[in-house]
Amino acid sequence: MKVKKLTALLLASLMAVSMTACGGSPASGSGTGTDSSDANDGSAEESSDASGSGNEESSDNSGSDAENADESGVGGEDSGAGAADGEGFTTSVDGKLIMATNAAFPPYEYVEGGQVAGIDAEIAAAIADKLGLELQIDDMEFDSITEAVKGGKADIGLAGMTVTPDRQEEVDFTVSYATGVQVIIVTEDSDITSADDLLAEGANHVVGVQRNTTGDLYTTDDIEKAGLGTIDRYSKGAEAIQALKTGKVDCVVIDNEPAKAFVAEVDGLKILDTEYITEDYAAAMNKENPALYEAVNAALQELIADGTVQGIIDKYITAE
Ligand code: ARG
Repeated sequence: MKVKKLTALLLASLMAVSMTACGGSPASGSGTGTDSSDANDGSAEESSDASGSGNEESSDNSGSDAENADESGVGGEDSGAGAADGEGFTTSVDGKLIMATNAAFPPYEYVEGGQVAGIDAEIAAAIADKLGLELQIDDMEFDSITEAVKGGKADIGLAGMTVTPDRQEEVDFTVSYATGVQVIIVTEDSDITSADDLLAEGANHVVGVQRNTTGDLYTTDDIEKAGLGTIDRYSKGAEAIQALKTGKVDCVVIDNEPAKAFVAEVDGLKILDTEYITEDYAAAMNKENPALYEAVNAALQELIADGTVQGIIDKYITAE
């Protein structure tokens, strides 16, 4: 189920589901948890070279797991998930699976020790492992991911990306592997007490978002275009949070898990109670490489079916 309109979310805001009660938990530091599945071994921790942090960096996740992976791809007999070369699919660089992401979205992806860590990095490592490919993660602006996938620079866009009809015209989405919710973050003393306040007649708030995310798209439609306020677009969610902290924006609309991570890091902020409206996260892939799509999608389906994906998510997100 996808959110078409933020309105639906906002109008439902009095349905109180307490999100503040679950504070404190997951994002920080949990990336180094011990994992039980060998498919994930070393995916985030030992894999990339010391490429430092910053945008447009390419961390080569060529840890030992990639070297051990040569036979594991054959497992998916009729799934189309063959071993790397000459098995019916091609990738942008032979033998590699290049993942485009925006590592500013904990706990799905963030930079830790010069590497991209998080749920998506681990899922991609497990997919690469199954396909006998070496994972490389390219960190870029969120709104560059679709282009990278479309242009064949990356094989897979994995970034907590919500499936939307507009994006489906640009890329093919795999099965969904997780869900997210758009939530509203305010300062503790904010006069915005319910999301309805943002949509009330005469409202005039400044809303911070990460550029080109669904939070941007919904608020642009429902608030800016409706003449109920303005949207300040930031290249990272954390920058929108800083703008909130310093009073440049009145609230931030962003996905619930990064929201929890950011609020846990910064004093004086809270997440408004909202109804849970679910968005589907999926991997974005090039429409013109159906063989690779089939292989990746089949591998992901297997990883969902055997509990690997849930195991990865559970390492980072504490059940509520
Ligand atoms: N789910 C939202 C969207 O697809 C936000 C995703 C942002 N992801 C990121 N890695 N910055 O638009």
